[in-house]
Amino acid sequence: MASAQDQLKQQAAQAAFDYVKTHFKPGSVIGVGTGSTVNFFIDALAELKHDIEAAVSSSEASTERLKAQGIRVVDLNTVTEVPIYVDGADEIDAHLRMVKGGGAALTREKIIAAVAQTFVCIVDTSKQVGRLGRFPIPVEVIPMARSYVAREIVKLGGDPVWREGVVTDNGNWILDVHNFDILDPIHLEQQLNNIVGVVTNGLFAQRGADLAIVASANGVETVK
Ligand code: A5P
Repeated sequence: MASAQDQLKQQAAQAAFDYVKTHFKPGSVIGVGTGSTVNFFIDALAELKHDIEAAVSSSEASTERLKAQGIRVVDLNTVTEVPIYVDGADEIDAHLRMVKGGGAALTREKIIAAVAQTFVCIVDTSKQVGRLGRFPIPVEVIPMARSYVAREIVKLGGDPVWREGVVTDNGNWILDVHNFDILDPIHLEQQLNNIVGVVTNGLFAQRGADLAIVASANGVETVK
């Protein structure tokens, strides 16, 4: 039997599917994120496979799952518009700023988010926080820069831990940064991106979500 949290993830995913069904223009491309919540969304999306022109995907794992559902996946470079992007998050605040990258797909997720017109974030209520940063901030680094980037992050007040054994779809490594006191997420996002050797970081504050679909024991709520 599915856990209570999985049931909430599935409810959020189903509500996102209903949103897509209502707002999606047949023949357009959909953006698809990564993670266990998104996996439920991909499975639901199969119902629309004849209306969807194609998907752009934020990870090899999601690409495989989309293809298994009969949904064509195309390179983002062949696409000029992504009207809707559906993805999960590790944390989300009341301003719809997020921490992402627990599944190591943060860079491709941030790229699709940048292109997307509407970012729909799907979460269960355990991901809602008053302030971002309880979940460690993932930072994707070029492997040879790992130690340098870690030293620079310490100067910013964080405690970086190398996610050993994990290689991103882009061939890079991840540092998970604990204990940041995040008063200004946009500023920290910029500071981290300014460190040479950082590919991107898991703070999605400059470009947050446009819509959050949050599932809790009380039902599904849409936050704008
Ligand atoms: C992937 O790198 C992440 O950004 C995911 O979106 C995030 O970790 C949410 O995953 P779950 O839906 O599995 O919690």
